[in-house]
Amino acid sequence: MLEGKKILIGITGSIAAYKSILLVRLLVKQGAEVKVMMTPAAKEFVSPLVLSTLSRNAVIVDLAAGNEWANHVMLGRWADVCVMAPLSCNTLAKMAHGICDNLLLAVYLSATCPVVIAPAMDEDMWQHPATQKNIALLKEYGNHLIPVNNGELASGLFGEGRMAEPEAIITYLIAHFFRGDELKGKKALVTAGPTYEAIDPVRFIGNHSSGKMGFALAEELYLRGAEVELITGPTQQKTAFAGIRVTRVVSAAEMFAASTAAFPTVDIAVMSAAVADYTPEQAATEKIKKQSGNLALELVPTKDILQHLGSEKKKGQYLVGFALETQNEKENARKKLVSKNADCIVLNSLRDEAAGFGVDTNKITLLDKAGTEMVSELKSKKEIAKDIVSFIVARTHAE
Ligand code: CTP
Repeated sequence: MLEGKKILIGITGSIAAYKSILLVRLLVKQGAEVKVMMTPAAKEFVSPLVLSTLSRNAVIVDLAAGNEWANHVMLGRWADVCVMAPLSCNTLAKMAHGICDNLLLAVYLSATCPVVIAPAMDEDMWQHPATQKNIALLKEYGNHLIPVNNGELASGLFGEGRMAEPEAIITYLIAHFFRGDELKGKKALVTAGPTYEAIDPVRFIGNHSSGKMGFALAEELYLRGAEVELITGPTQQKTAFAGIRVTRVVSAAEMFAASTAAFPTVDIAVMSAAVADYTPEQAATEKIKKQSGNLALELVPTKDILQHLGSEKKKGQYLVGFALETQNEKENARKKLVSKNADCIVLNSLRDEAAGFGVDTNKITLLDKAGTEMVSELKSKKEIAKDIVSFIVARTHAE
C-alpha cells in the first residue's frame, strides 16, 4: 500500500522523538520513500545519523549547510504527505502563527502536500487553552490531526499527551491518503465472528470462530476503496481503521436483523460469520439450576442470513458465502452456491490443522457459478482476504 509513496517526516524537540525511529523503519519496510527533517532541538533527542541510515536519505536540519541552501520549497512538493511526529508544543505554536525560524517551519509554510500532525507533550501543556487554540487553528488551515493518546508521560505522570504509536500513524496515513480505488464508490457488507444463542442469563451456545477472517476481509475491502459495514458477533477483534463502520451483535437473530437492514444499499456482501443454525426455543429468564438426571434443550432453526440475502439479491449485487465442510467438500459447497443463490462460495476445509477457526492462517477454495475453482495455498488470513477481494473485484468489474 505504501510502495513508492513519498513521505516526509518532521521531527521536533520532544522525548517522543525516539518513536520516530520506529516510524521511519516501518515506513521504509513497507516500501515508502522517506525523507527526514528535524528542528535543531530535535537533535538533542535523537541522532540524525540513525535516521539518515534508516531512511537511506540525508537528514535535513538547517536552511543552509556549508555553501548550500536546502530547497525547502521542493521538499514540500516532493512529498505525497508530510508528517510532523512528534510535534512539540513550541513548534505547534509556531506553525499555528506562521513563524519561520528554522528549516522545518519553512517547509511547513511552503508545503503543497497534505500535512499530518502527531503532537506530543505533557498533559497540562496539551490542555492549556493556548495549545487547544493553536490546534484548532492548525485544523482550520487544513492540517490533519492524529489525536494524542492517554498514558504515561515523560514527566512520570499519567494523562493525555502521548504521541500516537508509529503503527497507528501508519494506519492513519494509509486510511486517509493511500487507499486503493478499485472499489471506490462501492459499498460492502461483511459479517464476522460467531453468534451466541442464550440458554439462560449466564449460558449460551456458541462456536470457536474468532472473527479474524471477517475482520481481515472488511479491512481489505476498505483498503481497496469500498465503504464498509462490518457486522460482527462476539469477538476480541478490533479494527484500526476508524472508517469501517462496526456493528456488534450477539445472536443470530440480531445478526439477521442488522444484515437485512444493511443489504439493500450494498454492492458487495460477504457472509463470513459462523452463524448458529439452531437456537434455544426459549431462553430461560432465570439461571437453570442443576437437577438430577439429563437436561433436554429444545432447539429451533435460526433464519439463514445468506439464503435470505440471496433471495432478495438485485442485479449488480455480488453475494459471497462461506462453507465449512468436513466431507464431500466441493460438492456440498456447490450445492450451497445454488441453494443460497450466492455468486461465490469460499470453501474452508477443517482437514487442514492450520486452517479455519481460531488460527491466523487459512486455506480456501473459491467456487463460482461460472464453474471457476481457485485453490489457495495455506496463507495468513490477511493474504487470503486479498485473494478473495481480488476475486470479487475481477468478477464485479467484469459484470
Ligand atoms: N449462514 C447464514 N445464516 C445462518 C447460517 C449460515 O448466513 N443462519 C451463512 C454463513 O455465514 C456462511 C454460509 O451460510 O456464509 C454457510 O454456512 P455453513 O454453516 O457452512 O452452512 P449451513 O448452510 O449452515 O449448512 P451446514 O451447516 O448443514 O453445512
